[in-house]
Amino acid sequence: MTFTAILIEKTEGGQTTELKQLEDSALPEGDVTIDVSFSTINYKDGLAISGTGPVVRRWPMVPGIDLVGTVSESSYDEFKPGDVVLLNGWGVGEVHWGGLSTKARLKGDWLIKLPSGFTPQQAMAIGTAGYTAALSVDALVKAGVTPADGPILVTGTPGGVGSVATALLKAAGFTVVASYGDESEKEYLTKLGADEFIHRDTLSGPGKPLQKELYAGVVDSVGSHTLVNAVAQTKYRGYVTACGLAQGADLPGTVMPLILRGVSILGIDSVMCPKGPRMAAWDRLDKDLDRGLISEIGTEVGLTEAIQAGHDIVAGKIRGRVLVDVSR
Ligand SMILES: NC(=O)c1ccc[n+]([C@@H]2O[C@H](COP(=O)([O-])OP(=O)(O)OC[C@H]3O[C@@H](n4cnc5c(N)ncnc54)[C@H](OP(=O)(O)O)[C@@H]3O)[C@@H](O)[C@H]2O)c1
Repeated sequence: MTFTAILIEKTEGGQTTELKQLEDSALPEGDVTIDVSFSTINYKDGLAISGTGPVVRRWPMVPGIDLVGTVSESSYDEFKPGDVVLLNGWGVGEVHWGGLSTKARLKGDWLIKLPSGFTPQQAMAIGTAGYTAALSVDALVKAGVTPADGPILVTGTPGGVGSVATALLKAAGFTVVASYGDESEKEYLTKLGADEFIHRDTLSGPGKPLQKELYAGVVDSVGSHTLVNAVAQTKYRGYVTACGLAQGADLPGTVMPLILRGVSILGIDSVMCPKGPRMAAWDRLDKDLDRGLISEIGTEVGLTEAIQAGHDIVAGKIRGRVLVDVSR
C-alpha cells in the first residue's frame, strides 16, 4: 500500500520539497492511522516548505501542522475506525510527519474529535492560525478586557490569525481597529468586522516608549517594532497578546509601558497548548465564527499546488487562509 505526500529532504546545499509516492511502511510510529482529507498551509508550513525558517527538526519530513481525516486503524481507546478527527500542532510537521499527505499516523493524545459544528473544510480553513486567534481572544477575555474598556487593535489583519481574530472580536462585541498593508484589503476586513483601519507602516518602525493610549487590548501576530508600538499605545492596565513574528522575532522596546501603565504581554502558544484551553478555543470558534465568513477567509488548493502556496505565504502573497484538499 502506498500514499502521496509532500516530502522535504535535506541536501548538501539545503533541501528539496517534492510530491512523492511513499510506502505505508514509511509512516512514523503512532497509535492512530488516519486517511487525511484536508490540511492547510500555515505560515509555519510555508517556512518548512520553502526552507526559510528552521521549522523542520527531523529529516526527511512531511510538512503540515494541521489535518482532518478519518481514522482507519486505532489502538487508542478514545478513537475507532470511522471517527473524524482533528489535529493542530504538537510538533507535527516539525518533528513528526504531518498533514500534507493522504495518510498520517499520530498519537491519539494529540487528536480531538472534529467539532460537530464544522465540516472538514471549515475546520481547515480555520486551522492553527484560526485556533490561535481564538486562544488570543480567550486570553484577552480571561484577563478581564471588555468591549466597554475600548477598542482592540489587531495587527497583520489580512493574515490567517488576524482575519479570524477580527471576526471573533466583532462577534464578542468589541470595536476592532485593523492594521493593513494594502488599501485593497479594506473591503475584506470590513466584511470580517473591522470598524477602523490603520496602515501597518504607522506601527512598523521605531517609536517612542510611551505613546498616546488608544487600545484596551491588542492581538498581535507580527512581533518586532509592530508589537512594541502596539504595547506603547495600549491603555493603562491593558493586555496585549503576542503569538507571531511576521515582521520579526525581535522585541526592540522598553519596559516603560509595563512598569508605568501596568500593561501586560500575554504569550500565546498553540503547539503544546493543553487540551482544556484547546477545546475552549474550538468552542469559541464553533459558537462565534460566522460560517459565511469562513468561505471568505479560506481558499482551496490541491496537494499538487500546496508547495507553491507555501512559498506564497512566506512571500506575503496570501490573504486569509489556504486549505488543502489532499485528494487532488
Ligand atoms: N504562537 C503560535 O502558536 C502561532 C500559531 C499560528 C501562527 N503563529 C504566527 O503568527 C504569525 C501570523 O500567522 P498567519 O498564519 O496569520 O500568517 P499570514 O497569513 O502570513 O499573515 C501574516 C500577516 O502579517 C502581516 N505582515 C507580514 N509581514 C509584515 C511586516 N514586515 N510588517 C508588518 N506586518 C507584516 C501581513 O499583513 P499585511 O497584509 O497587512 O501586510 C500578513 O497578512 C506568523 O509569524 C506565525 O508563525 C504563531
